[in-house]
Amino acid sequence: MELRPSLNRGMVPSTLTIRPLLAADLEAVRRFTDREIGGNYFSASELNEIYERSGRAGVMYSLVLVDERGEIYGVRITYPPGNWQKGKGQGLTPERWPHALEETGYFQSIFLSSALSGQGWGGRLSHESLVRLRKAAAKGVVCHSWKESPNNSSFRYLQKLGFVLIAEYPSYWQNVPYNCTRCLKPPCQCTAQEMYLDLVERTA
Ligand SMILES: CC(C)(COP(=O)(O)OP(=O)(O)OC[C@H]1O[C@@H](n2cnc3c(N)ncnc32)[C@H](O)[C@@H]1OP(=O)(O)O)[C@@H](O)C(=O)NCCC(=O)NCCS
Repeated sequence: MELRPSLNRGMVPSTLTIRPLLAADLEAVRRFTDREIGGNYFSASELNEIYERSGRAGVMYSLVLVDERGEIYGVRITYPPGNWQKGKGQGLTPERWPHALEETGYFQSIFLSSALSGQGWGGRLSHESLVRLRKAAAKGVVCHSWKESPNNSSFRYLQKLGFVLIAEYPSYWQNVPYNCTRCLKPPCQCTAQEMYLDLVERTA
């Protein structure tokens, strides 16, 4: 019996492509995030809002990683400056940033298929969003990293990109009624690490 890659976490497709998120992807993204981060993390209406916030002046900042059949293996959700005010949970410290919130983009979320983690795809997806943010003259990018991610992989891949720790928020996602893969049911007790990348200081 031939197993489709999404049903066999050991299999990785030979060809993967990074491309802009399309409106037509949203239902597949919802199924993907339900599976990879926890049931009900994103509702269909929230994904519509994410799609709206991800684009500005004809440029799409959020990206997907797909195989040759269009199946989703990764999602990098990014908002350009001006299209966001806060993250999904509670806690943001703009007074500790080198640049104003209005000049700062937001890395809302990144998820990879578990079969792909540890192979640098998180960095490649994020790098492509950073290229777009730099072209839009963003001065920085902020995100909430998941401290309990396996082997602290979230913090580690962000550090490789040059992000630095700003603050920590225990139970950051406690008001998000989703089934976290670690806590299994609400309320999620995981900690967010606010991290910032200064795009002016770090030019590449
Ligand atoms: C976090 C994530 C985006 C990082 O992307 P990535 O492509 O795996 O990043 P890298 O390959 O650069 O790996 C970063 C480090 O974590 C380690 N790592 C990654 N996935 C791992 C796993 N499942 N188990 C153990 N270690 C892991 C890597 O070995 C690497 O170690 P190093 O710093 O010694 O080189 C990705 O692993 C992912 O989607 N994880 C699940 C969802 C998640 O945590 N999202 C972030 C929410 S804020």
